[in-house]
Amino acid sequence: MNILEIHDLNVVVDGKKVLHDFNLEIPEKEVHVIFGPNGSGKTSLIFTLLGFPKYRIISGKIYFKGKDITNLPTDERIKMGMGVTFQHPPAIRGVKLGDIVSKISEKNHNLAGREKSLAKKVNFPASFLDRDLNYGFSGGEVKRSEVLQILAQRPEFIMLDEPDSGVDVENLELIGKLINELLEERSGILITHQGYILRYVRTNKAHVIIEGCIACSGAPLETLDHILREGYWWCERCRSIGKEP
Ligand SMILES: Nc1ncnc2c1ncn2[C@@H]1O[C@H](COP(=O)(O)OP(=O)(O)OP(=O)(O)O)[C@@H](O)[C@H]1O
Ligand SMILES: [Mg+2]
Repeated sequence: MNILEIHDLNVVVDGKKVLHDFNLEIPEKEVHVIFGPNGSGKTSLIFTLLGFPKYRIISGKIYFKGKDITNLPTDERIKMGMGVTFQHPPAIRGVKLGDIVSKISEKNHNLAGREKSLAKKVNFPASFLDRDLNYGFSGGEVKRSEVLQILAQRPEFIMLDEPDSGVDVENLELIGKLINELLEERSGILITHQGYILRYVRTNKAHVIIEGCIACSGAPLETLDHILREGYWWCERCRSIGKEP
């Protein structure tokens, strides 16, 4: 069974078309990696799946766990088991990281009260839990803060938007292994540019998004290798070939 199905989705944000006749199926317990140039629509895909109201669905359908969620509000989608680590999470003054972690982990009884040990897993001293969320955090610390929150939430379907960008080599190995462990028996989407995290995270399939639609799909490491060697021109070629009558 597919945990996620997207059918012919067209999405507009502030007058800009960000997804264009977009189709994607993710079977249960599979993780798909998404590549694509800057501005191709990767983050827009995640925001649309989360149901952010600005991302207006013009046509098409989204099914999650067999249910049509096209018009479902964000909080309902989260309750159904969606989770995310943002590419650019906000810094929030007055909200402590520790309070967020403890709130998120409330439903996971075995995690309740374990904020300090969870923080330790992502290489944060306990003092980080008393800091305002992401406020004054370095780039790599923001990414680890996101991983900490997803570890506390443990959702069934996890969307990771560039969790590896700006993370140093040692912390990359650390969070890569944590994410891989978390994704065991789960499903999700992993967005990455350089693909370093694929050394640690097992993925089943890759898709390349060009201008708001999937230009081609294939094996993750082969696709990455192709992109690193030749850029994206070959994918654009694929897409134009696909569109020929
Ligand atoms: N609110 C908005 N108003 C206008 N254009 C927008 C808005 N939000 C996104 N876009 C545009 O939609 C396109 C897709 O953006 P998106 O953030 O999905 O790209 P991305 O593939 O995640 O890129 P990156 O690799 O740089 O993170 C971009 O050209 C972006 O400028
Ligand atoms: Mg993005």
